[in-house]
Amino acid sequence: MHGVLAVEANSIVKRYGAITALDGASLALPKGKVTALVGDNGAGKSSLVKVISGVVRPDSGTLRVGGEKVEIANPRMARGCGIHTVFQDLALVGPLDVVENCFLGDEVYWRMGPVKLPFLNRFHMAQVTRQALDRLDATTVQDLSQPVEVLSGGQRQTVAIARAVRQEARLLILDEPTAALGVKQATQVLKAVEQLRDGGTAILIISHNLREVFAVSDYVAVMLHGRVVRTFDRRETTEEEVVSAIVGLDRNDPINSVQREASR
Ligand SMILES: Nc1ncnc2c1ncn2[C@@H]1O[C@H](COP(=O)(O)OP(=O)(O)O)[C@@H](O)[C@H]1O
Ligand SMILES: [Mg+2]
Repeated sequence: MHGVLAVEANSIVKRYGAITALDGASLALPKGKVTALVGDNGAGKSSLVKVISGVVRPDSGTLRVGGEKVEIANPRMARGCGIHTVFQDLALVGPLDVVENCFLGDEVYWRMGPVKLPFLNRFHMAQVTRQALDRLDATTVQDLSQPVEVLSGGQRQTVAIARAVRQEARLLILDEPTAALGVKQATQVLKAVEQLRDGGTAILIISHNLREVFAVSDYVAVMLHGRVVRTFDRRETTEEEVVSAIVGLDRNDPINSVQREASR
């Protein structure tokens, strides 16, 4: 069904004490496609994203990146694998400017031969930041020396996405990217997502907005009780069908039909 997979999670289990947050969740993320991850509160979306981005270790299950099995012990290792996550709080630093945020933790210094000098190569970083924003067609972020705290929500999202672009992300994960944005800003962010997708990056987007999910995604993966119960091809499904799967009334899901029979 899918093309080349960028990242694959198989049978991931994660328990928090007596609570099973992930109960054998599997998800395949193809290159150059947008996959939306949907599901009711508590279904396990954030937990699955945290496992893929190295924030929490799973109790069992495997992750594959570019077909190779990997252990992702922390977010730094995830980034090393090309997995970048824009969490809801964005992790931008308000008083720092656009360039500094784009290179956070990864600053470039002037060098003299092999010797690193204690001066930031701001010129190089600004150039790369501009290129990343241009690749996103992000005309809304012009002045790179502005502190990000004065930017709008949409502009900040764009800076966070530009950071992933600069790092040549294999997979970009966005947790509710447009939840706090107006329509115009949300459109701008989704446009940036499409640019990145067209460059071959796999995108995983958590969203509660079904209209947006249908506008931007190629696949819709539905989580229920810690598992991905169904992955729809967006062109071959309807909002009604997706909602049925979210609430557990999907006739094609064998687990659900058994549960329905049992509850009669
Ligand atoms: N750190 C945690 N400690 C205890 N329980 C957690 C923790 N994180 C998530 N859970 C539980 O795991 C389940 C899945 O949560 P979550 O992954 O946040 O779902 P979603 O993002 O789909 O709303 C929920 O029952 C939630 O309460
Ligand atoms: Mg969540």
